[in-house]
Amino acid sequence: MKQSSPRSLFATRLGVIATTVGSAVGLGNIWRFPYEAGVHGGGAFLILYIAFILILGVPVLCAEFALGRSTHRGIFGAFSSIRPNSRWRWGGIIGVVASLMILSFYSVVAGWTMEYFIVSVKGGLSGLSDAELHASFSSFLVGWRPVGWTIVFLLINYFVTARGVQKGVERISNILTPMLFVLIIAFCINSLLLPGASEGLAFLFHPDFSKITPSVVIGAMGQAFFSLSLGIGVMLTYASYFTDRTPIVRSAMITASLDTLIALLSGILIFPAVFTYGVSPAEGPTLVFEVLPSIFNRLPGGMIWSALFFFMLFLASLTSTMSMSECVVTYFVEEKGMKRKSATALTIAVAVVFGILCALSFSSLSDLTLPFIGSFNIFNFFDYTSSNILLPVGGILISVFVGRIMSRSLLTKQLSSRPSGAPSFAARVIPFILSWVAPVLITIIFLVNL
Ligand code: PHE
Repeated sequence: MKQSSPRSLFATRLGVIATTVGSAVGLGNIWRFPYEAGVHGGGAFLILYIAFILILGVPVLCAEFALGRSTHRGIFGAFSSIRPNSRWRWGGIIGVVASLMILSFYSVVAGWTMEYFIVSVKGGLSGLSDAELHASFSSFLVGWRPVGWTIVFLLINYFVTARGVQKGVERISNILTPMLFVLIIAFCINSLLLPGASEGLAFLFHPDFSKITPSVVIGAMGQAFFSLSLGIGVMLTYASYFTDRTPIVRSAMITASLDTLIALLSGILIFPAVFTYGVSPAEGPTLVFEVLPSIFNRLPGGMIWSALFFFMLFLASLTSTMSMSECVVTYFVEEKGMKRKSATALTIAVAVVFGILCALSFSSLSDLTLPFIGSFNIFNFFDYTSSNILLPVGGILISVFVGRIMSRSLLTKQLSSRPSGAPSFAARVIPFILSWVAPVLITIIFLVNL
């Protein structure tokens, strides 16, 4: 989206939903959710994740929407237009750092989807046994191709963001995201027919509360923020293009429901296969890429399905990384007075350097040891720090700012769908959650984890 002034606002409500869903739905749902749920014991993680989406996710999303729409600015501008020259603007630094970190490791995984797309088009996976599929992914990871794909993905991102052709990509993805949805449902049905289906579903839906530890709670909270693109001003920036008639609470609920639904469906797609093909659910970041090819390989016309799926996943990733780059580029343009093209070039250059380090975390840098820190994996460090720490901290700042500093009558007006009359239920509850529940709850979770 271009930073033009006066801003061109979203023409339709569907446009609003499609763009926010475009940012929210991506690798977070299809790659990160199953891997986090797998590492953190399945059912108990799922319940916590859904609770966090409801208690924190929807209110913080409403806060970002309200702040963005009422100020029509990015996160820095939004803070400073309500509190000029205050320290609040520095909250935006968290957003920029987190966006850059996420962009870096996310692009590595998006690169894996590109590799699988090309390999599927060439028919390279058909006829391979599960062991051979596994071996081919492992040997791919230790070669140079992941580094190459990370760079290619980031360059595509550069062209899309620098030229302001996001609108075009959005239009394509508005058609393809519903198709991805239909495709996932079809693959879910296939997974439900696998011999490991009941074990997989029990793992995902049967909570074992004894498995809840502070790290499971932190992981579920981080996943809720990550999946809804919250805490760093991405949704806030998009909301600065909303019109006064966009219903904030309803848009937030629709975005959160669709996003959660897609995460759940990918769980239903992955876990039956995990138990059928004897993969460990706690495999980590590579889980989904080890399981999906085994599923596709057994379908009639499997390579066509595989190519389609990975292409759509690539596009879904692109609409998410577009929103991250936008957040960083807006900072350089608005705060540092840079031109859009140079700001994008700088953003992508930094992401390329970090992205290469993240890509090498699965090969030459896999057992990096640092003084004072010990063994260290850059990919995991970027993933953990940004999602589990920076996004929730940003969430506290946005909640406190909107709940306590922004004028209450302005907030109530933003949250109410009816312009006059008594404030709706949501308009009464959400300010309370933002001023008290969210900051206190997130702080307690951090303290317990320490
Ligand atoms: N929500 C995106 C996804 O699920 C990832 C994302 C995180 C995008 C943070 C923007 C900001 O894939």
